[in-house]
Amino acid sequence: MKKVFAICGSTRKDSTNHRYIEAVKKLLGNDIQITELDSLINIPHFNPDDDKDNVIDSVKDFRQQIVSSDGIIISTPEYAMGIPGTLKNAIDWTVSSSSFSRKPVLLITASSSGQKAHQSLIDVLNVIEADVDETNVLVSFAKTKIDDNNIITDAATKEALKKAVQIFQNKL
Ligand SMILES: Cc1cc2nc3c(=O)[nH]c(=O)nc-3n(C[C@H](O)[C@H](O)[C@H](O)COP(=O)(O)O)c2cc1C
Repeated sequence: MKKVFAICGSTRKDSTNHRYIEAVKKLLGNDIQITELDSLINIPHFNPDDDKDNVIDSVKDFRQQIVSSDGIIISTPEYAMGIPGTLKNAIDWTVSSSSFSRKPVLLITASSSGQKAHQSLIDVLNVIEADVDETNVLVSFAKTKIDDNNIITDAATKEALKKAVQIFQNKL
C-alpha cells in the first residue's frame, strides 16, 4: 500500500486547509494510507546549530515521515503575502537531510488570494528537489469553495484538484 504524508500549513483548529486535505483524501481513494501531521506547532524554530548530531525528536519524526512516504500533500494558506512561518520553518529543517528529494508533492494553496505563497512554495519545493510539476493547485477564495462536510462546491476547483490528484497518484 502506498503511503502519503499530509502537512497542513495552518495550525488553526477549524482550518480550511485541513478540510482541503480531507477532501483530497476522498479523491485519493482507500488503497492509499494517508497520515496527517498532528501540528506544525511541535516543530521548534530552525537553528543550524541544532541541526547536527542531536536533532530533536519531533524533527527526526517529521523527516522520517517524509522519507518513508511515497508522496506528500501540503495544503496551506498565505500569510502576509508569503508562506506561513511555521510551514517554512518546518521545511527549513529538511534542507540538510534532503528529505524531500524526488518526492512527489501535491501542493494546494487554499487562501483568500494566495498567489505569492503558492509561487514561493513552488520555488522552495523545486530547490529542495521535490516534484510539484502539474500537481499544484491555487484555490483563491478557498473558504467559499468547500462546505462543512469537506465537499468541494466549486466545479472548476473540483476539476483542478481531481486532475492534480490523478497526476500525483500516478507519480507515487
Ligand atoms: C495573519 C494573517 C495574514 C493573512 N494574510 C493573507 C495574505 O496575505 N493573503 C491571503 O490570501 N490570505 C491571507 N490571510 C487569510 C488566510 O489565508 C485565510 O484566512 C485562510 O483561509 C486561512 O487558512 P486556514 O483556514 O487553513 O487557517 C491571512 C490570515 C492571517 C491570519
